[in-house]
Amino acid sequence: MYNSDQHYVWWQEGVIYQVYPRSFKDSNSDGIGDLQGILSKLDYLQWLGIQALWISPIFPSPMADFGYDISDYTGIHPLFGSMADFDQLLSEAHRHNLKIILDLVPNHTSDQHPWFLESRSSRDNPKRDWYLWHDAAPDGGLPNNWLSVFGGSAWEWDEATGQFYYHAFLKEQPDLNWRNPEVQDAMLQVMRFWLDKGVDGFRVDVMWHMIKDSEFRNNPLNLDYTPDHATYQQLIPAYSTDQPEVHDVVAEMRKVMNEYSERVMIGEIYLPIDQLVTYYGKDNTGAHLPFNFQLVVLPWDARTIAKAIEKYEKTLPSDGWPNWVLGNHDQTRIASRIGLAQARIAAMLLLTLRGTPTLYYGDEIGMVDVPIPPDLIQDPQGLNMPGLNLSRDPERTPMQWNADQYAGFSTVAPWLPLAENYRVVNVQSQQEDPGSMLSLYRDLLQLRQAEPALKTGRYEPVLTEDTLLVYQRVAGDQRFLIALNFGEAPLTFDYPLGNFNGEVVVGTHPEREATVVEKSIRLQGNEGIVVHITER
Ligand code: GLC
Repeated sequence: MYNSDQHYVWWQEGVIYQVYPRSFKDSNSDGIGDLQGILSKLDYLQWLGIQALWISPIFPSPMADFGYDISDYTGIHPLFGSMADFDQLLSEAHRHNLKIILDLVPNHTSDQHPWFLESRSSRDNPKRDWYLWHDAAPDGGLPNNWLSVFGGSAWEWDEATGQFYYHAFLKEQPDLNWRNPEVQDAMLQVMRFWLDKGVDGFRVDVMWHMIKDSEFRNNPLNLDYTPDHATYQQLIPAYSTDQPEVHDVVAEMRKVMNEYSERVMIGEIYLPIDQLVTYYGKDNTGAHLPFNFQLVVLPWDARTIAKAIEKYEKTLPSDGWPNWVLGNHDQTRIASRIGLAQARIAAMLLLTLRGTPTLYYGDEIGMVDVPIPPDLIQDPQGLNMPGLNLSRDPERTPMQWNADQYAGFSTVAPWLPLAENYRVVNVQSQQEDPGSMLSLYRDLLQLRQAEPALKTGRYEPVLTEDTLLVYQRVAGDQRFLIALNFGEAPLTFDYPLGNFNGEVVVGTHPEREATVVEKSIRLQGNEGIVVHITER
């Protein structure tokens, strides 16, 4: 039952916005976004109506994987600014009632991190056991068959000390040995460093990778593999990811979060629902929000999505708070995947489901993947597996702020090409257009924040057909009906739960707003409506 006395915390009630810092706003004309750039856009973010920013890594890094290879966990990369800039961003964000969530990358460091430099310096170095070193097989070959997510073997030979080290991603990203208590302590101290500064939480990179099988057993073959996929998928990562002991280290991290008040730990975890929900931990000992990527990975189909929502709602632990995501810096943009018309439906779905939504920068103006010519590809995932179209550069292009040269992102050519359409598709032009994607996002965000039923109310499925998804959000006597047409053809349906009277409060088709809705409801192709039910 909905209980209006129940206390919800900001990360349950609020909406998170992911900033990819290289591409958000450049303040010092080097073609790369930075902290002062983000600071200059806090007014925009507050106007938009989000409550928290997750900023992808801003720490010192050789940038082999664009910041996900960290060489100093408690510093700021000069490309992005200084620690003083960070402190200023944090306090200004808080003044704007915006929380700051940092990216924590505990699974691996850069190969240039002093810990790894020490570890690889000799077999008897005290930090040798901080990473996963392994002898060659008796025949001199690899220790086992594990593969790198970014292509090739996950083992790299170190000539000087005559052993292999394990890297789930690039060879420049050696995995830490989380079974070593010294490693645990060091990373928990990193967390405290940022939490002491007042940071509001972490998004934890590849949480399900953090512990590997202690015996390093071979992974089984994936019999469904076809060569149009990343080579990593040739095997099922049964022994290299999602090991039972991972929950113990997550629990240690959670304990640190609990030393502070109302901080959030979000886990990046790509696993099926039954496994995903185990990352909430027993009795609240895990992540507050294990990222739920179903809307990213499932086919865009009304029945599939309806089933996934219901399964998720049923599978969540009783005190586990749901969350939803449409895109991030690793995935094809939603507008490219399902088209602009359906991207409006997706926005309405994301912002009316039960649970914390996370938006990816630029999706609110309908940014699309930008094709990058082969000689300009920067992402190692794309470069290492050519021909498979795996580069993540297309979804990481500069934010389109206005129609100026370089889209108001920078005064010089940016690090990745801008979308060709930026003179038309940009924040400034969409702010002036009530029919724009941005206006739709803002209307949905404002409505969600104003209405407890949408923010924290319960989810009730109403009806699913081939291209139709209908559900309600309910709190006390407040009731909102959401009807989404996943197809191009118009359709009509009868509200199955009796007669009612309502008004469209937000529509993907703005002309529909403020119109009256009764039992028999007609939707245009690609149309979605949020209806406030006034009488039953
Ligand atoms: C996560 C990040 C991705 C990165 C990888 C290795 O999946 O989201 O961008 O490349 O981890 O750190």
